[in-house]
This record gives sequence, C-alpha cells and structure tokens, in this order.
Amino acid sequence: MGNADSPNPGLADVVTIDGPSGAGKGTVAGLLAARLGWHLLDSGALYRVVGVVAERRGVDLADADALADMARGLDIAFTESVTDDAVSVAVVVDGTDETSAIRAAEAEDPASRVAAVTDVRTVLGDVQRSFRRPPGLVADGRDMGTVVFPDARLKIFLTASVGVRAERRMRQLAADRRRLKDQHAGDSLRAPRGDSAAALTAVRARTEARDQRDRTRDVSPLVPATDAVTIDSTALSIDSVMTEVMALVRKRGLDR
Ligand code: DC
Repeated sequence: MGNADSPNPGLADVVTIDGPSGAGKGTVAGLLAARLGWHLLDSGALYRVVGVVAERRGVDLADADALADMARGLDIAFTESVTDDAVSVAVVVDGTDETSAIRAAEAEDPASRVAAVTDVRTVLGDVQRSFRRPPGLVADGRDMGTVVFPDARLKIFLTASVGVRAERRMRQLAADRRRLKDQHAGDSLRAPRGDSAAALTAVRARTEARDQRDRTRDVSPLVPATDAVTIDSTALSIDSVMTEVMALVRKRGLDR
C-alpha cells in the first residue's frame, strides 16, 4: 500500500518501465516485481491480445469502433508465477491460454496498429489501472509513466540502440520457438531461421517500423515522462541494469 511519501497514500505504489521494443523492459520488470514481491503488468500483452483476436475474428484493424467494442467485450486474465527469480504472466482470454499466440512475431504488427487507435487505448487504459493493487505494481509499456500512472513513485525509461534491440528480439524469438517446439507448436512462430544475417536485417527493419509508429502516433506516443530516469542498456548486462534500478528503488524508499 502507498506509504506516507506517496502522492496518493490510499493507492498502491507503482514503478513504471517504458521504452522502445527490445530495450529489456519485460525482463527488468519481471525481475523487479519478484524482488519487491509486487504485481506485474505487461501492458503490451493487452495490445497484442486485441490485435491477435481482431485478426482472428476478421475485425478491420482500421475500424476504431469495432475494435473498441471487441476490446470491451474480452475477458482478459493474467496469471502470475515466479520462475528463475522473475515474475512472468500467462494470458488467458475468454478462458483460452493465448500466451504463445501473443508472443509470436505475427502478433507484433497488429498490436502496434491497434495501439494507435484512441478508443482502444481508452478501454485498455481502464483495464491497466485495475491492475494497481497492494503491495504494489511494476508496469511496463510505452505510456505507463506519461498517461496511465502519472503519479508513479519511480519512472524508468529504458532504451538501447536499434541494432542491440533487434539482436535481443531475435534471441527472444528463438528461445520462444525452442520452448514451443517442445510443446509441438513450433511452426506457429515466424522466427528467423537459416541465414541469420538476413534474418537480423528483417527483425531490425520490423523493429524500426514499429518504433516509428509507436513514437509518432497522435495518441500516447512513446516519449519519456518529464520525471523519468533514462537508462541506456546498449552496453549494459541485465545485472548492471538491475543494479541501477535497485539503487533508484532504494533511493525512493520502495524496498521496504
Ligand atoms: O511491448 P510489446 O512489444 O509487447 O508491445 C506491443 C505493441 O503495443 C507495441 O507496438 C507497442 C504497443 N504498446 C503501447 O502502445 N502502449 C503500451 N503501454 C504497451 C504497448
């Protein structure tokens, strides 16, 4: 629950981690949530759900009303678990586990498109605020510190060069593919195979296109909050990023 220093003493404290794709937000958010014993909101997963379900149902990604209606009607539940010292979430939509479907490369583009629709952001913004509960929330995304939780106790903007982010994304897709292969579902991921240089170029191009759309959209564009602390992870290991993050957490008295 919020402590005496909180601008909203009645509300649970929030730490936000925003930034472009592949900067390491999800990894840092999961580790931080586990260290603090707080809840985790992966807000990008919600946009991915809306994009994936819209495509499946044949909803026009340019039809704002239809998308918002559809988003309003979805029953989206996150199930948190702790593995390897990090909180991770499984995403269940209308009773079906969609975790693998929303992590697939195919989910990236529709997610980015529906994320540019104002009415979808309004619906999902309310869903995101409902995740705020004791003992606290670590929220990662693009507009967590600017729009959804402007009173967060600590706002981090995590960034990295586009080359490094594309490499990390490629490793993540390969790991997802290996995991799914074990479950006999590996073919559903369009992860790079074969010529790794060409694959990296393709992932980099997709990353740049998505960044461009996220940064330049009219509603809730990807920008650091004025009171955010920027961490550039280009040359940092995850341990080094966590050391910086934990120093900020302690400075704000959030590790009680
Ligand atoms: O973080 P991610 O790759 O799972 O996000 C998927 C898409 O959703 C991405 O294009 C950015 C968008 N997004 C957003 O606009 N606002 C958020 N708070 C989180 C994600």
